[in-house]
Amino acid sequence: MKKISLRGRAYPGDLNHSGTVFGGWIMAKMDKAASIAVEDIVDSGAVTVSVTDLHFLKPIRNGDIVTIYTEIIKIGNTSIQINVNVMVRCKKSHEEYNVTEAIFTFVTVDEDGKSINVADVIRDDVDDDVRDLL
Ligand SMILES: CC(C)(COP(=O)(O)OP(=O)(O)OC[C@H]1O[C@@H](n2cnc3c(N)ncnc32)[C@H](O)[C@@H]1OP(=O)(O)O)[C@@H](O)C(=O)NCCC(=O)NCCS
Repeated sequence: MKKISLRGRAYPGDLNHSGTVFGGWIMAKMDKAASIAVEDIVDSGAVTVSVTDLHFLKPIRNGDIVTIYTEIIKIGNTSIQINVNVMVRCKKSHEEYNVTEAIFTFVTVDEDGKSINVADVIRDDVDDDVRDLL
């Protein structure tokens, strides 16, 4: 199930010399949103191991309100894949449009940073659609 994991607004300090938001700013926010999505389903730490299929589809501009949606799409032994979608709200219509998307993979880890099985740390209260991925 798709969920909102982060919301925020772009400010002048987030812009590059062309007046649109830095790609790195967006990627950092996406990583944070994905980490929140992972923390919602496991009781352990987790680290980013890869980012794939990253597409900057439309620019983000000063003052834009950005909403980051996440969806857990795959669970492996120690890895969790999250679809991350950045949407901007149109100032006129208030409808959202897609500006950036990517697939993040996280690995669940113990206190020493060693990978551990997701099944051993999955929270009891996860939604059925997530449990079905185990
Ligand atoms: C994440 C980390 C603990 C994994 O170490 P590891 O367990 O020895 O690695 P493995 O090769 O056994 O892979 C573990 C899982 O990650 C997956 N994985 C590893 N590299 C991957 C990659 N490049 N892309 C996608 N998945 C990957 C493996 O498929 C495996 O998944 P599975 O257990 O569900 O089958 C280690 O690579 C690490 O500490 N990386 C640095 C993380 C980091 O600092 N991130 C940035 C800040 S959060």
